[in-house]
Amino acid sequence: MSDLSLAAQAAAAENRPPAVPRHVAVVMDGNGRWARQRFMPRFFGHKQGVDALVRAVNAFADRGVQYLTVFAFSSENWKRPSEEVSGLMSLVLVAVSKYLTKLAGDGVRIRIVGDRSAVSDKLRRAWEHAEELTAGNSRITLAVAFNYGGRWDVVQACRQAIADGVPAEAVDENWLASHMALSFAPDPDLFIRTGGEMRISNFLLWQAAYSELFFTECLWPDFGEAEIDAALEAYAQRDRRFGTIRPNQVVPEGT
Ligand code: IPE
Ligand code: IPE
Ligand code: MG
Repeated sequence: MSDLSLAAQAAAAENRPPAVPRHVAVVMDGNGRWARQRFMPRFFGHKQGVDALVRAVNAFADRGVQYLTVFAFSSENWKRPSEEVSGLMSLVLVAVSKYLTKLAGDGVRIRIVGDRSAVSDKLRRAWEHAEELTAGNSRITLAVAFNYGGRWDVVQACRQAIADGVPAEAVDENWLASHMALSFAPDPDLFIRTGGEMRISNFLLWQAAYSELFFTECLWPDFGEAEIDAALEAYAQRDRRFGTIRPNQVVPEGT
């Protein structure tokens, strides 16, 4: 029996230091409070949040993370006041025009995950453009979860099965996983939530089954390199077992 943990074995097979998560998911929470602390409107916090995201993508990529999935707008965020919702929609367009060229030049591949049916044609076209422009990049994949909900994701995968006439016995965990929004990425190794709340808020319910969770009080616009290093250091200390026991606790058969 190898004395490497399962995570370390997977990392060794990919020639990657075991301590670095391959996929990090982040609930970017706390923009509103960050702005209110400065007596500014909540929108100001969202704007700063976009800048923090662009910095974070590069910082995670520099540290060897291959996939970064961020929660930008949840299925439930439509319940916010209409001015905030429309402000967030326009901010996405502004963010794409401000940062797309830079991110493309930085080797970032952009993918949008979530229900696109409810967003404007203009926004959909901006996303398609961002995805097409960066499709050849491979330094890091940034998956932006927008109008995304973990429950929506499970339901839309089930609907595909029914629409395609897939027999019930063929719908297993592998089939569902390969029809869910993040089917192009491995499950997240590390799940971070900023802003102090200790809940998942309907983010990656299926994919986070074995993610290591990291909660920080830091509000998203303040989440910089020092906070990223603290999260990665905490991750490196975790003992991932995926339901097994530690290799050094395996008792030889017959004893
Ligand atoms: C997260 O920040 C960003 C979005 C949900 C779009 P919030 O807007 O939830 O900020 P807080 O939690 O109210 O501070
Ligand atoms: C989760 O944050 C969604 C995003 C960060 C996009 P919320 O602020 O919407 O979550 P709750 O309402 O505190 O659970
Ligand atoms: Mg919030």
